[in-house]
Amino acid sequence: MKNKFYITTPIYYVNAKPHVGHAYTTVAADVLARASRLVGQETFFLTGTDEHGAKIEEIAGKVGKEPRAFVDEVAAQFQEAWRLLSIVPDKFIRTTEPEHTKAVQRALQAMYDAGDIYKGSYEGLYCKGCEQFKTENDLVDGLCLDHKTAPEAMREESYMFKLSKYSSELLNAIESGQLPIVPDERKNEIVSFYKKEGLKDVSFSRKNVAWGIPVPWDTEHTIYVWADAFLNYLTGLGWDGTPGVVPDFWPADVQLMSKDILRVHATIWPAMLLALKLPLPKKLLVHGFFLIDGQKMSKSLGNIIAPEELVQRYGADAARYLLMSATPFGNDGDIGIKKFDEKYTADLANGIGNLVQRVVTLIENNCGGAIAYDVASDTENDDAWFDSALKDSTIAHILERAFDVIKKSDVFMNEQKPWALAKTDTEKFKQVMQVLVSRIHHIAWWLQPFMPETSQKIFATLGSAGERRLADGFTFSVKKGPVLFPRLPEAL
Ligand code: MSP
Repeated sequence: MKNKFYITTPIYYVNAKPHVGHAYTTVAADVLARASRLVGQETFFLTGTDEHGAKIEEIAGKVGKEPRAFVDEVAAQFQEAWRLLSIVPDKFIRTTEPEHTKAVQRALQAMYDAGDIYKGSYEGLYCKGCEQFKTENDLVDGLCLDHKTAPEAMREESYMFKLSKYSSELLNAIESGQLPIVPDERKNEIVSFYKKEGLKDVSFSRKNVAWGIPVPWDTEHTIYVWADAFLNYLTGLGWDGTPGVVPDFWPADVQLMSKDILRVHATIWPAMLLALKLPLPKKLLVHGFFLIDGQKMSKSLGNIIAPEELVQRYGADAARYLLMSATPFGNDGDIGIKKFDEKYTADLANGIGNLVQRVVTLIENNCGGAIAYDVASDTENDDAWFDSALKDSTIAHILERAFDVIKKSDVFMNEQKPWALAKTDTEKFKQVMQVLVSRIHHIAWWLQPFMPETSQKIFATLGSAGERRLADGFTFSVKKGPVLFPRLPEAL
């Protein structure tokens, strides 16, 4: 049986158009999905938009639009941004789809019938930006850390989810690694949250938010937007809301997100799964924030870079690479156009672009473009590390290895001086080129998930169909193509 691989991103709020923070998570998921397909796994990649709730209702009102018209517009902007970045999900889910809303109602009804949801009331602080209840411990100087706004005091009748019931089972699952949270630092944070605060029951319905899915047994209420949103990970696979019925591809292999929404993903979400008698995800993979001048880039702070700006300036492949290499995975890091420009020039134009150009020119000029593949000269044929990097979701490792081989090849070329050998020792020249051309072929193969178009261009330049292993007896037929990474226009 083929291995299956299911990867998800958070579904993004449609209160504003996408920025490169959203793009970072979504490109990373696309890279993992593409890498998974490359090694032959049956793969499902889900992303989408989170379209209900108080925040969206309020913003649609402010711009004078009906919520539905407003969410249609912004959801289309997300889809367009992902198209520009060559992100190809198997499904783009929208929580306003009728299949999703029906399944959410069925699931909540079942939880209500089973006694996991009960009528109560909620009193506390609510941050509309997060769409989350907050405790004093979550605030700094009375403000939400992510949104820099004061949460509102709220008191209303509400249907509550018995989250507290699952506290010890979930803490066990997290501590034992049955529900892995990666990296460790994030897991430790969650474990100490469980130990310090434990889980309290959580409000699962709102009486005064009209823009939501009606609670099926009491239509004066709408379903809490996070309860609605989490279920996308199942409804995106066609699940109809029936407890205990496991959809194809579930449990997810990787659920990707940034640390802002880890806590809810490590509490409410797995508790819902337990209540619905479904298995827990195999990994919550958590990355850091893109910062601009030390501040989290976010629409509420207004310091955003839009994905299309990057695609216009660098092209889709380079934009993907620049996003993926901007910060060490898991850490926060400052980003900016100046840094992207420098990296584009160093790694892409002068790095891989230049290496390919030099090798292709030498082969064209000195052997008429034909050069035999030679297993003995293929120094990188053992690349099982690629599969382990995919298994551990350490995609940065793939980039590192590829760029090490690029650097190593530049050094090798400068030492061997093949342009001189071509005149003095044609046999040695051929050997040097065999090493270089097979390395470039590997580099193109490894980089495919990151820069799919560039890899295809390199394969075309080398006259190869892009196999992972070239056959003995294969001959490259090298033909110069267009420049891979043209020089950048003047600095912005
Ligand atoms: N709608 C909820 C998620 C529901 S999932 C069941 C939500 N949406 S969001 O639009 O705010 O997206 C948050 C996610 O966007 C982060 O977890 C992260 O994946 C991505 N990012 C948003 N800003 C980011 C940065 N500045 N840096 C890195 N990632 C960023 O929360």
